[in-house]
Amino acid sequence: MLILSIDTSCDETAVAVTSGRKIISNVIYSQSLLHKKWGGVVPSLARRAHEERIDWVVNESLKKAKSTMDKIDAIAVTYGPGLAIALEVGINKAKKLSVEYNKKIIPVNHMEGHIYSCFGQNRNGNPKLNFNFPYLALLISGGHTELVLFKSHICYEILGSTIDDAAGEALDKAAKMLDLGYPGGEVIESLASEVNNKDLFNFPRPMIKKNTLDFSFSGLKTSFYYFLKKENKVKAAKVKELASSFQEAVFDTLLLKTKKAIEITKVNRLLVGGGVSANLYLRRKIRKLVGDYNGSVIFPAFKYLTGDNAAMIGIVASYKAKKGIFVKDNNKLDRVPRLKLSDSY
Ligand code: KG4
Ligand code: ZN
Repeated sequence: MLILSIDTSCDETAVAVTSGRKIISNVIYSQSLLHKKWGGVVPSLARRAHEERIDWVVNESLKKAKSTMDKIDAIAVTYGPGLAIALEVGINKAKKLSVEYNKKIIPVNHMEGHIYSCFGQNRNGNPKLNFNFPYLALLISGGHTELVLFKSHICYEILGSTIDDAAGEALDKAAKMLDLGYPGGEVIESLASEVNNKDLFNFPRPMIKKNTLDFSFSGLKTSFYYFLKKENKVKAAKVKELASSFQEAVFDTLLLKTKKAIEITKVNRLLVGGGVSANLYLRRKIRKLVGDYNGSVIFPAFKYLTGDNAAMIGIVASYKAKKGIFVKDNNKLDRVPRLKLSDSY
């Protein structure tokens, strides 16, 4: 089954052609330069840029896959969570293609995409990974931080999520306070590695004592802000150590909550998805953690599967199609507020 998938949930216009877990083409038009000068994503600019690019990205993806709409069996689209006015662009395009070419639409939640991104394969079907349920999934992106129990195909339980800022968002905001630009995760990673990931300032680890798997990063952000305000001279002299200490506080929190989740669920097979999972230092820490529990971890295999992309949406869609999950009424796709993973059509 050949699926054309579309994701416009944030600042990437992404379209892919997939067959099961095999990624035939995966085109991503990033708007990050557009939003850079504002220090974060501006929803109205994002929408306009998606509208300007979506047709080109669809055509390019089909071209790279050496395919045409006639050969496509179904269209998958991200319906949430994300920026509502940005999501609408992808949804409208999916609806238009669905009517024009008489194809069914498969609705996909962006976060289930990040879970399935761990199982993406190239055209030759590599890497060959078998599903071995249940898994724990740690989803860490610019918009979301979630711990999910992945019980079987298209069956999830959210164990915890952030009650305010996401992990990537916290890194981005800290980078902004340090005048390091946007997005900040990658810059922080490289500055921190220059000082061996030293934790000089020991910033607070939010919510770690609370008996919950929820996360909170806004208190850490505020304490970082007031620290910088008070210690202006430190800011000028110790940017690397500040970046490193902040990163350590965020990662420590992620690790402690994941450890708690492993102990509660007794599941030691971990999946990690979302942009922050590109961080090599974090990957080492996670490998060590699961090693302590004789467990295993899977990260998205390709660089372009770590962040936002549509290939992961297509992979989910192939399993939804097997279960007969299609949109029955295209107009229902208009309602795109933040929907939970367990919501279905
Ligand atoms: O998944 P993603 O591409 O988009 C969203 O769905 O939000 O994640 C973007 C986030 C940003 O906050 C960015 O700073 C972070 O991922 N990120 C990183 C790294 N690369 C991207 N965070 C830490 N280390 C990295 N190497
Ligand atoms: Zn994402």
